[in-house]
Amino acid sequence: MDQKIKLADDLEICRILNGMWQVSGAHGYIDPKKAIDEMMQYHQLGFTTWDLADIYGPAESFIGKFRTKLENLKGQEELKNSQALTKFVPNPGPMTKNIVESCIDQSLKKMNTVQLDLIQFHWWDYNDPNYIDALIHLSNLRDKGKIKHVGLTNFDTERLQIITEQGVRIVSNQVQYSILDDRPEKLLVPFCQNNNIQILSYGTLLGGFLSEKYLGKSEPFKGNLDTASLRKYYNMIVRWGGWQLFQELLLVLSQISQKHQCSIANVATSYILQKPAVAGVIIGARLGVSEHREDNGQVFQIHLDSQDISEIKSVTDKSNDLFAVIGDCGSEYR
Ligand SMILES: NC(=O)c1ccc[n+]([C@@H]2O[C@H](COP(=O)([O-])OP(=O)(O)OC[C@H]3O[C@@H](n4cnc5c(N)ncnc54)[C@H](OP(=O)(O)O)[C@@H]3O)[C@@H](O)[C@H]2O)c1
Repeated sequence: MDQKIKLADDLEICRILNGMWQVSGAHGYIDPKKAIDEMMQYHQLGFTTWDLADIYGPAESFIGKFRTKLENLKGQEELKNSQALTKFVPNPGPMTKNIVESCIDQSLKKMNTVQLDLIQFHWWDYNDPNYIDALIHLSNLRDKGKIKHVGLTNFDTERLQIITEQGVRIVSNQVQYSILDDRPEKLLVPFCQNNNIQILSYGTLLGGFLSEKYLGKSEPFKGNLDTASLRKYYNMIVRWGGWQLFQELLLVLSQISQKHQCSIANVATSYILQKPAVAGVIIGARLGVSEHREDNGQVFQIHLDSQDISEIKSVTDKSNDLFAVIGDCGSEYR
């Protein structure tokens, strides 16, 4: 599998993106200096694409400092080989040109750049129709050159359709998508395929639950889980079918990983990367605390076959239907 993919004609990204929610607090203490040094290591190994947000604590400033360091060490040209996909997550309310532009200006300043590669827009409340205004202003800022492309995060298919019908050009929608959470397949994937929109997936490793670390382990107490990510996806496991069924899944994934001489995390990542409309999988990086670069890099060497997929399906068929339980993509936030 190719390591790179085009999200748009002029925006090539690594298909495994480095997720920066993990630097925002509640995932362990992050030392800023160590974090920037670590970012260089990711970049050098070809993990050149970062996923972040205006609400992820110091993430945008980390990008700014990283860009300065990269330029000092490798020269200005090297900056073209790094992509930083941020998000705009405003509180509901009026979305005037000035409000939107001043937020984008803040991101540009923190990230030490004159153009954002991609702005992924999130909206908390569909009953507040101001999200359309925000997207029109973002599109104008794109046309003005402050933003290269406009994307979304956590939008359901119904609103994605409304947005595209308004003539807003969207390149991507970032949603939760994993072996457990196949909700995108019901409505979003077909819509994206028909409208040339790509999916960026998160929650694909369930905060680390989809790994050898939890294979054969008894059910954790939620209070003992030490990252916000694990606590979020523990809830997802419970809603999906519970710990016993999850262990059954881990066992099958372990057998598949042994066949391909890779890790359970690799199988979980490949499973989503092989899906239609998926451009990339975002894997959270606790910069300076833990890293799995070499292991995650193996994903580009493996390909799951139809037997692997049907073995996984034999377990997931026993689970609850998360679309029926939660609703379309992003409903968990509303
Ligand atoms: N748009 C949204 O609403 C939204 C929501 C959530 C996340 N996101 C994005 O997605 C990113 C990913 O976050 P997530 O919460 O979904 O986490 P995740 O990627 O499912 O899990 C990340 C954790 O998985 C573990 N891990 C990574 N590679 C591994 C490997 N090869 N083997 C074993 N364990 C491995 C690490 O745990 P340890 O550090 O403990 O080793 C890491 O911290 C975020 O940073 C953010 O950019 C977006």
